[in-house]
Amino acid sequence: MADPQTTRNPFTDAESQAVGVEIHDLSKRFGQVEVLKQISFSVAPGEIFVLMGPSGSGKSVLLKHIVALEKPTSGRVLVDGREAASEEIRETVRMALVFQAGALFNSMSVYDNLALYPREHRVTNEQGIREKVMRALQILSLENAHQKYPSELSGGMKKRVAIARALVMEPQLMLYDEPTSELDPVMSATISEIIATLKEQYHVTSIVVSHDRELALNIADRVGILMGGRLVFLGPPAELAQPKDPRVADFLNPRIDLQNPRFKQLET
Ligand SMILES: Nc1ncnc2c1ncn2[C@@H]1O[C@H](COP(=O)(O)OP(=O)(O)O)[C@@H](O)[C@H]1O
Ligand SMILES: [Mg+2]
Repeated sequence: MADPQTTRNPFTDAESQAVGVEIHDLSKRFGQVEVLKQISFSVAPGEIFVLMGPSGSGKSVLLKHIVALEKPTSGRVLVDGREAASEEIRETVRMALVFQAGALFNSMSVYDNLALYPREHRVTNEQGIREKVMRALQILSLENAHQKYPSELSGGMKKRVAIARALVMEPQLMLYDEPTSELDPVMSATISEIIATLKEQYHVTSIVVSHDRELALNIADRVGILMGGRLVFLGPPAELAQPKDPRVADFLNPRIDLQNPRFKQLET
């Protein structure tokens, strides 16, 4: 492994280290269906990697391999140079996955949702937890929402709470699954800014699954596009301006064509 760059942790001021991710020849099969076909790429420590692709192309399945919620059918997934599914990695590398739906506990206040992880892991005493939670809420401009319940929050606030909750874990690796889906363009831009800020200030490694073209173009260091289980594009976002592959061009700039045979298929 190359020497990871170091930076200060936002909460403890201790030195924190971003970690890299390597995917080698990853294939994943569910029954007869091969969802991922020999995928290979790596994400450098501190990089923002945006993974795009049509619905059902395997983006979430790929993310789940990194947090070891899925196991490869073949191939390897490494975090910080070691098997993602190893106990060593689970015990030593702090990863946070921000789910598509936010997955907050509805019966708990925003504050308690954020305090859950440090309380369960006895990270520090209640005073220390309070400082961490309020700091994370402040980073996401949510200081005034700590007593609210998830049902009282807008969609954009829920997403920010989910990110704040991940931050409390002091992650070295942040994984986001569709962080801007269902948000209006202004709120999507805010979420993009937050992801970019976390990289700049705290040097976390970020892997972002998203359909959001603006997000990819604005904050990605590199983009990968999954289609039919294969990585059909891997490169800097600037290369997406004029994609060579017609499938990629079609995905990024879909034309609305009322004569398209796809509509005929829908009519049956
Ligand atoms: N646990 C599972 N068992 C069987 N099939 C699954 C499972 N998880 C995902 N799939 C299938 O894998 C494909 C890719 O899913 P997913 O990664 O969720 O797509 P997306 O790119 O939209 O995130 C889909 O066809 C989905 O139905
Ligand atoms: Mg998904």
